[in-house]
Amino acid sequence: MIKIDNKKKVFVLDGKNYSYIIYVNEAGTLQFVYYGKKVDGDDYLTSVYAKTLAPEPNGFNIDNAFNGMPSEYAFFGKGDYRAPSTLFVREDGFRASRFVYKSHEVVDGAPDFGSLPHARRGGKTLCIVLKDELSDMEISLNYTVFDDSDVIVRNAILRNCGKNKVRLNKAFSFCLELPDAQYDIMRLQGRWAQERMPEVTPIGKGTVRVDSSQGGSSHAMNPFAALLRKTCTETSGECIGVNLIYSGSFAITAEASCFGALRLQGGINDLNFEWILDGGEKFVTPQAALCYSAEGLGGMSREFADFYRNYIIDPARAYMRRPIVINNWEATYFNFNRDKLFDIIDAAAPLGIDTFVLDDGWFGKRDDDKSGLGDWFVNEKKLEGGLKGVAEHCAEKGMKFGLWFEPEMVNEDSDLYRAHPDFAIGKRGVTPSRQRNQLILDFSRKDVVDYIYDAVSKVLKSCNISYVKWDMNRFMTEFYSEKLPYERQGELAHRYILGVYDLAHRLTSAFPNVFFEGCAGGGGRFDGGMLYYFSQIWTSDDTDAFERTKIQWGTSMCYPVSAMSCHVSACPNHQTQRITPLATRGLIASLGATGYELDLTKLDDCEKEEIKRQIASYKNIDELVLRGDLYRLSSPFNSNYFCEMLVSKDKSQAYVAGERIHGVPCDLNYIIKLKGLDPNKRYTVKELGITASGKTLENAGLLLPRLPDFGAWTWNITECK
Ligand code: DGJ
Repeated sequence: MIKIDNKKKVFVLDGKNYSYIIYVNEAGTLQFVYYGKKVDGDDYLTSVYAKTLAPEPNGFNIDNAFNGMPSEYAFFGKGDYRAPSTLFVREDGFRASRFVYKSHEVVDGAPDFGSLPHARRGGKTLCIVLKDELSDMEISLNYTVFDDSDVIVRNAILRNCGKNKVRLNKAFSFCLELPDAQYDIMRLQGRWAQERMPEVTPIGKGTVRVDSSQGGSSHAMNPFAALLRKTCTETSGECIGVNLIYSGSFAITAEASCFGALRLQGGINDLNFEWILDGGEKFVTPQAALCYSAEGLGGMSREFADFYRNYIIDPARAYMRRPIVINNWEATYFNFNRDKLFDIIDAAAPLGIDTFVLDDGWFGKRDDDKSGLGDWFVNEKKLEGGLKGVAEHCAEKGMKFGLWFEPEMVNEDSDLYRAHPDFAIGKRGVTPSRQRNQLILDFSRKDVVDYIYDAVSKVLKSCNISYVKWDMNRFMTEFYSEKLPYERQGELAHRYILGVYDLAHRLTSAFPNVFFEGCAGGGGRFDGGMLYYFSQIWTSDDTDAFERTKIQWGTSMCYPVSAMSCHVSACPNHQTQRITPLATRGLIASLGATGYELDLTKLDDCEKEEIKRQIASYKNIDELVLRGDLYRLSSPFNSNYFCEMLVSKDKSQAYVAGERIHGVPCDLNYIIKLKGLDPNKRYTVKELGITASGKTLENAGLLLPRLPDFGAWTWNITECK
């Protein structure tokens, strides 16, 4: 709900449990007032509350140096020495700005930004237009609120209303000015095979920067940060999370000023970013989703999960039963032929697996990772009977067929590169920095995107393909496009991501029956922008049943479990060499969109029976994975037990899954207290053969079974009727 005092220019935005309040101060600047637990907005509309929050130390005088005004979108060069939200240069070189309120409107729903990922619908959107008194620039600030959500979506649109061009050097999506800096900050940092490890540090004075400048959101840092009050825990206390709906280079900064306030802002990374705005042009920044929680990190995560499922992921897929996949990558790598694939398919069908996904190596000259990328035509020498043969074999076995692509990439040893070397990002004559022997295609160019669209479409039309795994295995270097003029080279990284979105938009629209999964060398681009197009994302190349507990725990901070592709792989694990029980691997993979990634032909009958059992059990809980609320009960980071719980929205069903990490002597009395149940309902815990009230299960908890190293357990809980 949005309430406005049009005279005093006070704006009260109410979501499910929060209020966000801003107003236009005496200097005409749009100023932050309040963000937190819901308050009585009328107090702000009718009384002097807003004025009690006058900024220090120079009041409303923007023209005073050292002004510490809590600005809703910070501008540069008028004495606020903190980082601005935007920095742009006029043709005469002048770069200071002085933004004041111009107008506002409230519209139903959420703004549509075409193929740039955005909230698909919304309750209401407040748009406030600010005007620069020193140039012809205007900024529209959008705030979309939802009655059923604690997420507020923000972005900024910068408009050059003059005739002369302006160079943007920074254009963040949002700025949030908090009156104090008594927070810790959580980021999700990592690396390949160890993505999204939560790390919490104090803010301190100065700036904490959470960012990627790699041209993709990256393994190293997710476009997410959360401010945690010192009292914030998993289950209680205040925190504010921010998640950018964007897949390119990004930055989120938290700057504690010398006056004690905190400026949290973020958007496209300003490092290596420039954008020329000609007269009359606008620049739309990606959306940022902000979530206030008074129920700790768990509360924040559940709100983000619902937000993604209800507003970002394709509604046709968000709650759709996910295919249970067998993927051949770790079974064969590049070394396969038709017979080997048929054997895997034959072994998969009786187990209840419904989709076979053919991974890397089916196209061009591709027997290792040195060649072939870009040549999207099947290698019939390797795959007798082509893709059609595999698709038909799947159909004969009652299974569907999926295919791997890496549309954004090219090997120098490929027909595509030999014909169009200029299609690759980089400067001719400068040795390219290769990663995995490949280069990135210049998706800032429409002709390149068109070429790949045609090539991929042709394959998708060639036979019955119902699933695509869209991989991306390197990040950007030598940021240079042969086709962009000198003054626009700084636009490349963002234009590239817009090209990726354009291709994703065109392919997902042209092939509405194909289920798309995202991937980037594991989970190197697991973000809201990708989730807009790909309803699930390969979470990590690390499928080890212990490492995965940490990766999935971290990923669940702001993404739904249904968005995480989680596969059971072989042991010793290919990434860690660790041996864990098949039952544990299955159980950890059940806390997401489950699947398999191993050579089924090498399993004995017992193992096959175990997989059959896992799939049958998963079918009993997959509605909880798709629609339930996640409660993280015991952390693998600071305890010997990993445990998570999914609870149906009506609290009639729950699923607890856990893993004991190491056997420790005399570790006998570990009790897990359940969460999210209805205290007044009675429940059956199937595995224990007991009934108890939600109150008992939450307050007294359940004693864990004795388990060996990496042993796992489940409790299936249902309401007694
Ligand atoms: C990286 C992915 O994460 C893997 O699952 C696999 O698809 C390989 N790429 C194939 O090259």
